[in-house]
Amino acid sequence: MKQTIDSLRRELEQHNHAYYVLSNPQISDFEFDQKMRELQALELQYPEFFDPNSPTQRVGNDSVSGFEQVAHSYPMLSLGNTYSEAEVRDFYERIRKTLQESFDIVCELKYDGTSISLTYEHGLLVRAVTRGDGEKGDDVTANVKTIRSIPLRLHGNYPDLFEIRGEILMPWHVFDAINKVREEQEEPLFANPRNAASGTLKLQNSSTVASRKLDAYLYYVLGSDLPSDLHSENLQAAQSWGFKISNATQLCKSLTEVQAFINHWDTARKSLQVATDGIVLKVNSMQQQKLLGFTAKSPRWAIAYKFQAEKALTRLNAVAYQVGRTGAVTPVANLDPVLLSGTTVKRASLHNADIIKALDLHIGDMVFVEKGGEIIPKITAVDFDARFMVGDKVSFIKNCPECGTPLVRYEGEAAHYCPNETACPPQIKGKMEHFVSRKAMNIDGLGSETIHLLYENKLLTNIADIYELKTSYLERLERLGSKSALNIQASCQKSLEVPFERVLFGLGIRFVGETIAKKLAFAFKNIEAMQAATLEQLIAVDEIGERIAQSVVAYFSNKKNIEVISRLKRYGLQMSLTDNQLQKQGTSLDGLSVVISGTFSVHARDEYKRLIEQHGGKNQSGVSAKTNILLAGENVGPEKLKKAINLGIQIMNETEFLQKIKAKDNNDAGFVNTAGFVDTLF
Ligand code: IVH
Repeated sequence: MKQTIDSLRRELEQHNHAYYVLSNPQISDFEFDQKMRELQALELQYPEFFDPNSPTQRVGNDSVSGFEQVAHSYPMLSLGNTYSEAEVRDFYERIRKTLQESFDIVCELKYDGTSISLTYEHGLLVRAVTRGDGEKGDDVTANVKTIRSIPLRLHGNYPDLFEIRGEILMPWHVFDAINKVREEQEEPLFANPRNAASGTLKLQNSSTVASRKLDAYLYYVLGSDLPSDLHSENLQAAQSWGFKISNATQLCKSLTEVQAFINHWDTARKSLQVATDGIVLKVNSMQQQKLLGFTAKSPRWAIAYKFQAEKALTRLNAVAYQVGRTGAVTPVANLDPVLLSGTTVKRASLHNADIIKALDLHIGDMVFVEKGGEIIPKITAVDFDARFMVGDKVSFIKNCPECGTPLVRYEGEAAHYCPNETACPPQIKGKMEHFVSRKAMNIDGLGSETIHLLYENKLLTNIADIYELKTSYLERLERLGSKSALNIQASCQKSLEVPFERVLFGLGIRFVGETIAKKLAFAFKNIEAMQAATLEQLIAVDEIGERIAQSVVAYFSNKKNIEVISRLKRYGLQMSLTDNQLQKQGTSLDGLSVVISGTFSVHARDEYKRLIEQHGGKNQSGVSAKTNILLAGENVGPEKLKKAINLGIQIMNETEFLQKIKAKDNNDAGFVNTAGFVDTLF
């Protein structure tokens, strides 16, 4: 059996490599998943053949622990930076003078992620450590194992012990998708893929890391027993062992070739899937590297040429102030249109009052706009030489541009806010748009234009008014026929079934995103209890900090909000958990059918049946296409197991299953009670 398991592991490793390193998949995702499930099932049945480097170990686990600090066997140094081709020439000349013999330079892309050092022993990944302070870093092995392009087991002719260093990256499309979700949930955005990658690597929960789809390029092999004296050949060898080595790596025999490489990639890099911020030049021969040596901070045999951030010079015409749904006021610069990395830029973010002050901006100034790793262009400086007869100095407004209310700035926050939550037009309209959105009340037919129209016609002044909209009014509105009017009404009716946690999210309380709303709903069970909660009681709830608690207290101390809530209650919206939800301990198995087979050691079979129901799942007796999970104990029925494998059903052992209901429901607030203690089952 060990042989079958091993060969399945090898096969899956090869497919992983083909997919994630070579970008050349050999089988369909479906076939891959089937094989993976087959292996999972076998490992479950034969725990004696457990292997920490098996492909099944890439899914991550939910254990929460701090990272252990580990000393690097070779310090992780940084590179000297240059910003001009003249400095690259100086570097080249310096090496020529020191070596007094011919030499080659390997040019590589400088990947803009977070660096990692991987140790392999006997072809197995044993440790992954972050750069840290260069001397010692965090052991993030569990997280790194979830990165599919990093091999857990090597093939070919590798040294018994070596380290390989490289960059962990978050591809642009993953970065964009994550930020989109964070924006929806009002969580702070990642500024660039570098921060996102390093933040992800430091997460305590490796299943979340696995979901973030990181990638990695390796660029530096270290050890006492390397295949070659040439860096380029070691990289090639590493590629043959299974590592992802960039194809944008070139051996250059002259300065002209180096310059051509730089010029080519300065533009070609824009179509890459991952962020790069320069070129790294390395002397190819390691013997020559030794001769050149190191300074205190960096090697003399390598240097980084940094690409110029794309910059353009244009005129600042005005500063506009936008008020969002939460009342946050964002200053936006209106500029003379200018071309920057292929797009015309007319506006740039000015972030906040401190930044405006630091730039010493005046209307009419010529300003530098840059698009770095960030998505929105920003103003980085004023061209003071071009300052001639400029207009007024820009100073942050004191009153809300929409309603005139004096702005406030909360302690520790960079942004200014309009506190007139209940009567400031963009805040009201924004709140209504949020209330009807898909993840909240899911009311169709009320887009931002319709809301604007209804607001202008005084038919909507707060979220409760939505339930008073009469079809007879709606029909008469421009652009809104009777069909749309009926649709809105039907949708409102349907929204009465939306569960309490989503209603709570829909209210638009500052900092109460989807997850927090769920936590609060399960902790307090109904709106009255939440309204009565003190700051301390709120803070006692898992994951609720002072900032959120204060915001909740402030929301409920506003009379207008209380009025809106009592109206919503009257219209029949769900303002408490349903009986069904109250009986439930969690939602981790919502809508899932589970089959139990075999004998168990932690809980009795009947207890598992009860747990499945308490967590929203359904017990099923036989495996069918409708089954979602096979909870397999010892001596699991062989027929059931076979059927589950064939149907591609998830197979879990006792521990995995308990972890699923525990970890997921902690996230979902299923276990939280008002006192803030987390009820565990074990
Ligand atoms: S070589 C001793 N090669 O840039 C030389 N570094 O400031 C070790 N980086 O911390 C580094 N791409 O995180 C090297 N092709 C590449 C690189 C690269 C990105 C990063 C790396 C390092 C930093 C140097």
